[in-house]
Amino acid sequence: MHSLLLSSYLSELKKLPGESSILDLACGSGRNGLFCLKHKFPTTFADINEESLSDIKQVITNDKSLQDKSLASFWPIDFEQTGVKHLSENSYGAVLVFRYLHRPLMDQIKAAVVPHGLVIYETFTEQQSALGRPKNPDFLLKKGELASYFSGWEILHSFEGIKTSDTGNNQQALAQIIARKP
Ligand SMILES: C[S@@+](CC[C@H](N)C(=O)[O-])C[C@H]1O[C@@H](n2cnc3c(N)ncnc32)[C@H](O)[C@@H]1O
Repeated sequence: MHSLLLSSYLSELKKLPGESSILDLACGSGRNGLFCLKHKFPTTFADINEESLSDIKQVITNDKSLQDKSLASFWPIDFEQTGVKHLSENSYGAVLVFRYLHRPLMDQIKAAVVPHGLVIYETFTEQQSALGRPKNPDFLLKKGELASYFSGWEILHSFEGIKTSDTGNNQQALAQIIARKP
C-alpha cells in the first residue's frame, strides 16, 4: 500500500511543472512510485535490488488500468558506492525517499530536485530501536535531523514522533518531511 503521506499531498505533486518526473529512490516494491505512475507522472524506480525492479515491471505489465506504461523507467543502482555521484542536478520534479537512509546521499537528493520541486522523505528515528527494527543507528535519524537538512526550503509538512502504521497494525517512530526547494 502506498504511503498516506504521499497521497495526502498529491495536490502538491500536481502543481509541479508539466512533464515533471518523479524518482522513487530505494523503491523496494515500488508502492509509492506506482501510486505516482497511476496519477500519470513519469516515474523512475531506483533500487539496488534488481528482483524488486523486475517485480515492479511485472506489476505494471499486468495492470490493465495503467494506460501509459512507458512513463515508467527502472534504474538498478547502488546509492552507497563511494566516490560516485549518482544523482544529477535539477533532474526530478520530486524525489521520494521512504524507509531508507544513507546520510552521504542527502546533498545529492536535494540537488537532484528542480527549483520549486519537492523532496518527500519519511524514515525511522532513533526511538524506533525501542519498538522494533531497524535498530542500527546508521539507519535511524537523530532528533531534529531530517528537518535540519531542509533549512531554507519551504516546509509543507514536518513530523517527528510515534505514529500508527498506515495499515494500523503497529506503532512506528518516524520523521517525515515534505519540503519545496527555493
Ligand atoms: C525498507 S526498504 C523501503 C522500500 C520502499 N522505499 C518503501 O518504503 O516501501 C529499503 C530499500 O532500500 C533498498 N536499498 C538498500 N540499500 C541500497 C543501496 N545501497 N542502493 C539502492 N537501494 C538500496 C533496498 O533494496 C530496499 O528496497
